[in-house]
Amino acid sequence: MRHSLLAPGKRIRPMVTIMVTAHMGGREELALDPACAVEMVHTASLILDDLPLMDNATLRRGRPANHRIYGEDTAMLAAVALLNGAYAVIAEARHLSAALRAELISVLANAIGSDGIVAGQESDLHADHSLTDFNSLLQRHAQKTAALFVAAADIGARIAGTADDRLHAVREFAHNLGLAFQIRDDVIDIAGDHGMGKDTGQDANKTTFASLVGGERALALAGRYADQANFALRDLGPALAPLAELTRTLVESDQNERTRFEPEFARAAS
Ligand code: IPE
Ligand code: IPE
Ligand code: MG
Ligand code: MG
Ligand code: MG
Repeated sequence: MRHSLLAPGKRIRPMVTIMVTAHMGGREELALDPACAVEMVHTASLILDDLPLMDNATLRRGRPANHRIYGEDTAMLAAVALLNGAYAVIAEARHLSAALRAELISVLANAIGSDGIVAGQESDLHADHSLTDFNSLLQRHAQKTAALFVAAADIGARIAGTADDRLHAVREFAHNLGLAFQIRDDVIDIAGDHGMGKDTGQDANKTTFASLVGGERALALAGRYADQANFALRDLGPALAPLAELTRTLVESDQNERTRFEPEFARAAS
């Protein structure tokens, strides 16, 4: 669990949670535990995604994939423990009201389940990729990736006591950010190298936005979803500007200028 969770990931989803809480007028320290829970869920999804029966990856966050060190059995158990640990972390965050904790757990659980990551991953693995059209790909990306971004932002907003009528815009922001993020990830899979800290060339037999419309048009599309994310933010007022900055950075940063992983990470077990 520590091998994968504490490896140097970008921590984007927990950052979204904390930033949304802070910029929607809440106290950011209230968001710390739920933000950790979001990162635990994300890490669990990565451990499972890397297993030989899924993407069969060797490298993650600059380290050998979990199962390459601990075996597939332990990797699977680590993912299950991280998932359940995430719910426990929120349930035990006693600085939040019991009603709010129940709401946050429900938001997170729904993002992971059969309408969220699980559905998206199932489609990614078993859909007929030769038949994938733009809209089914969009749906797959919304479920496998954007759903957790939406939960991360929604959780942050609820901690700040955001009213229901403003939650919609927060979720719309994160949905578009998540789509932009996964489209860029599809391009990185083709254009990136081991400096990304994970395997590339994984999607060779899949339809992704990069294979469907080409790398350059996929990047332009990611830019368009980033614009839509920031458009949703505008409805929420100027206090949310730092989130627009985050969106821009994520979508525009040149993958070669992002954190490079030192080779020794690839050898380290923890
Ligand atoms: C990887 O997510 C999985 C995708 C949804 C593309 P990240 O690129 O955020 O991975 P880490 O957390 O930085 O390792
Ligand atoms: C993974 O998508 C989405 C998850 C829910 C983990 P990818 O399979 O493209 O993620 P990477 O490229 O391995 O990080
Ligand atoms: Mg995958
Ligand atoms: Mg993968
Ligand atoms: Mg990928």
